[in-house]
Amino acid sequence: MRAGILGVGHYLPEQIMTNHQFEEKLETSNDWIIARTGIRERRIASSDMDTSDLAANASLEALEQAGITAKDIDLILVATGTADYEGFPSVACLVQDKIKARHIPALDLSAACAGFIYAMVVAKQFIETGTYKNVLVIGAEKVSKKLDWTDRNTAILFGDGAGAVVMGPVSEDKGILSFDLGSDGSGAEQLYIRDHLKMNGREVYKFAVRQMPKSIQHVAEKAGLNLDEVDLFIPHQANSRIIEEAANKLGVTKEKFSITLDRYANTCAATIPLSIKEELRSGRLKSGDMVIMVGFGAGLTWGSIALVWGK
Ligand code: UT7
Repeated sequence: MRAGILGVGHYLPEQIMTNHQFEEKLETSNDWIIARTGIRERRIASSDMDTSDLAANASLEALEQAGITAKDIDLILVATGTADYEGFPSVACLVQDKIKARHIPALDLSAACAGFIYAMVVAKQFIETGTYKNVLVIGAEKVSKKLDWTDRNTAILFGDGAGAVVMGPVSEDKGILSFDLGSDGSGAEQLYIRDHLKMNGREVYKFAVRQMPKSIQHVAEKAGLNLDEVDLFIPHQANSRIIEEAANKLGVTKEKFSITLDRYANTCAATIPLSIKEELRSGRLKSGDMVIMVGFGAGLTWGSIALVWGK
C-alpha cells in the first residue's frame, strides 16, 4: 500500500504587507529586498488570529477537497515553530477542537522549515502499516508574532500562512516513492526562536545551498529517478537565490521549481503546502506528475519526498 495526498487546502491572511512598508521604519528598500531575496510582499495575520486559526481554516478546505469530513480523520499532525502556546498545548489539539474532529491523537512536530516534510513522512508510516487511514498533515505559522520588527536582517524575510493536506492510501502507481530526512544540531544557534527569531543569514544560506541539492539527489536515487524525469520541484522558499543556485548545481532549469515566495515570503513549515495548493490551482500540477518536495531550516534540519501526484 502506498500513502499519498487526497486533498489540499490553504489559508492566507488577508492583510498584505509590501516591501515599501518597511522603507518607512528600517534602513532598507524595496529594490534591495527584491534583488537579494525575490520577496515582494507577505501576508500578516490579524491580532485575533493565531496559528491554530490559520491551520483550522486550511484544514477545512483540505477535507472538502478530499471529499471527507473531520469525523473521518484518524490523526492530526501539525508542523509549526510558532505555536499558539509556548510549550503546550499543541496547535494540533486546538485544531482537533476547531474542526470538530473525533477525540483522535493530535500532536505538533518541530522540524522548522523541514517540518511539513517530516510530518508527511510520519503520516506515511501510519498509513502504510494500516494503523490509520486518513491523516491530516498541516504546516502553519504565524511568524509575525516572533519577528523583531527593528531587525532588517530578519523582519523582511517572513510571512504568515497555513497549508494542509489529507493523506491516505492511494493506488500503487501513485503516492510517495521515497524520502530523505536528516539533521545537524551543531547548527542550532544559526537560526532559532527564543523571544524573537534570530538568524545568521549567511551561514543558513550556505547550509541551504549545500544541503538542498544533496537531499534532492538522495531522494531521487532512492526512488530510482533521473532528475530529468521530475515534472515539478516544490522547495521550501527562503530566498530565490538559494533556489537558483540549487537548480544550477543540479543542472535543472529553475522554471521547474515552484515559487510563491514573491507573494508570501518565507512562511516556514507552511511554504511547501502553500506552493502545492498554488500549483494545483494554476493547473500546473496534474495527476501522474513526478514531484520532488524539499525542505530545510532550523535545527538544522532537512528533508525531501519523491512522489507521483494523484490518488
Ligand atoms: O527558512 C529558513 C532558512 N532561511 C534562509 O535560508 C535564509 C538564508 N539567508 C538569506 O536569505 C540571506 O543571507 C539574507 C537575505 C538574510 C541576507 O542576504 P545577503 O545578500 O546574504 O546579505 P548579507 O548578509 O551578505 O549582507 C549584505 C549587506 C550587509 O551590510 P554590510 O555588512 O555589507 O554593510 C547587511 O547588513 O546587506 C545588509 N542588509 C540589508 N540591507 C538592506 C541585510 N539586510 C538588509 C536589508 N536591507 N533588509
